[in-house]
Amino acid sequence: MKSKFSTTVHLMFIILLIKINIRSVNSVSGYDSTCTCNSVNSGVCMLYTCSTTTRSPSCFSGSSEITLADGTTKPLSHIQIGDKVLVNQHNIYEPILSFIHAKPDGLFSFLAIQVQSTKSNLSSTIFVSPNHLVFDFDLGKALFAGKFHVGDRVQFIENNEIVPGKIINIKLTKQEGYYAPLTSSGRIVVNGVVASNYATVSNHELAHQVMGIYRWWIDLFGGSLLNEEIPWMLQMMLYVEQMIQWCGGQTIIKNYIYDGKFEISSIA
Ligand SMILES: *[C@@H]1O[C@H](CO)[C@@H](O)[C@H](O)[C@H]1NC(C)=O
Repeated sequence: MKSKFSTTVHLMFIILLIKINIRSVNSVSGYDSTCTCNSVNSGVCMLYTCSTTTRSPSCFSGSSEITLADGTTKPLSHIQIGDKVLVNQHNIYEPILSFIHAKPDGLFSFLAIQVQSTKSNLSSTIFVSPNHLVFDFDLGKALFAGKFHVGDRVQFIENNEIVPGKIINIKLTKQEGYYAPLTSSGRIVVNGVVASNYATVSNHELAHQVMGIYRWWIDLFGGSLLNEEIPWMLQMMLYVEQMIQWCGGQTIIKNYIYDGKFEISSIA
């Protein structure tokens, strides 16, 4: 009984991932966010609470810096399938298998999360959508980027080790292009921060398991660089999701998907 249930949950994860990805791929303008100020200090807003309405791309900006095996960095917009990129501490490099989706042109909204190493004070900014999973240092697991607050600590790579990277600022900005790279471990280091390949669903490990189906597909048919068209295999999953909804699976789905809410310290 239990394994049947968990198989169903797994299935829903992949369906949700894919469904949201298709939505964002079909979107031209990116997502819309509305922010309200909820803390003012001497006439300056110190904290906004925001809510995304629809169509959130689930990924990184084209300007995101990716570390290559020779130690140099390259913007994500210049990364090709097969490039070996840093995915974790201890010099672990993996080839880019595919892009779950990618769009080189257009301005899209991203959180600009500025982190500072607590070891060297080195600072770096990651441009990520609020629904994307980023690894928390203290909890040791991935959380939605939009759920981090100033003062929280993410996993930051320094001298091949994971060190605490303290968040010192979170802004909402617009950046050119979006890219969702896929690696075999489901992780990638972006601007020094350890991030997941996945978005929208809260559990990185489960998302990684179910995306095994997609990696298997890529093994057979190859990855795609500019994946604005989602393969029919993935689209077919949408029908299965509808069946789950008819069968009353809606409440389970709600517990796992991103609610669209985030907090920022300023609007760029
Ligand atoms: C980091 O910044 C703090 C506060 O400004 C300072 O005390 C410390 O010496 C700095 N550490 C390094 C390694 O530069």
